[in-house]
Amino acid sequence: MEITLELMTRELCHALFRGWQNDPAIYADISLFRPYVYDEAAVDRYFDSKQVSSRVLLAIMLAGEPIGEVQLKRIDREKGECTLSIHMKHDGLKGRGYGTEAERLAVDYAFYSLGLCAVNADTVKKNARSAHVLEKVGFKRIGEDEGFFYYRLEK
Ligand SMILES: CC(C)(COP(=O)(O)OP(=O)(O)OC[C@H]1O[C@@H](n2cnc3c(N)ncnc32)[C@H](O)[C@@H]1OP(=O)(O)O)[C@@H](O)C(=O)NCCC(=O)NCCS
Repeated sequence: MEITLELMTRELCHALFRGWQNDPAIYADISLFRPYVYDEAAVDRYFDSKQVSSRVLLAIMLAGEPIGEVQLKRIDREKGECTLSIHMKHDGLKGRGYGTEAERLAVDYAFYSLGLCAVNADTVKKNARSAHVLEKVGFKRIGEDEGFFYYRLEK
């Protein structure tokens, strides 16, 4: 079954977060990790907070259902670049190739729908799966600091 990306709507956002699991791999400081609990008002606030011109929120869709989200954030039209972030809805949807495909589609969206020339990404160093997927999609590691690896993919 093929996945697609769709602009996130408020309805899709609620469908995504009902059944969402936070992933401990994305926390540089694991003491900040909390299991996710769906909260309708919090999802509304989350959705509203992302409706800015420097950010595009996309739903990763499979068979009509949202299975994850990709954000193209820090969109800088002068520099022609943005930063990608991605999170699948829950563990049962990981490791099936969907994340790789979603990143490829998101990069295409940045290049061909937004007209940008480069996509940046970063990942906490212990998140080996994320680093592997970024590299598989063609991102090059361009730097690191104590906690993070930094990646970039140019058109
Ligand atoms: C990172 C994420 C988006 C990847 O999506 P996914 O659907 O799970 O990934 P895929 O199934 O497409 O690919 C996983 C790849 O990682 C590999 N992998 C899995 N666990 C790994 C690990 N611990 N170390 C290295 N590689 C690993 C798999 O073998 C596979 O690679 P392959 O196709 O070459 O065999 C998803 O796991 C996720 O949402 N994680 C939580 C949020 C997150 O980490 N976001 C990224 C923050 S920048």
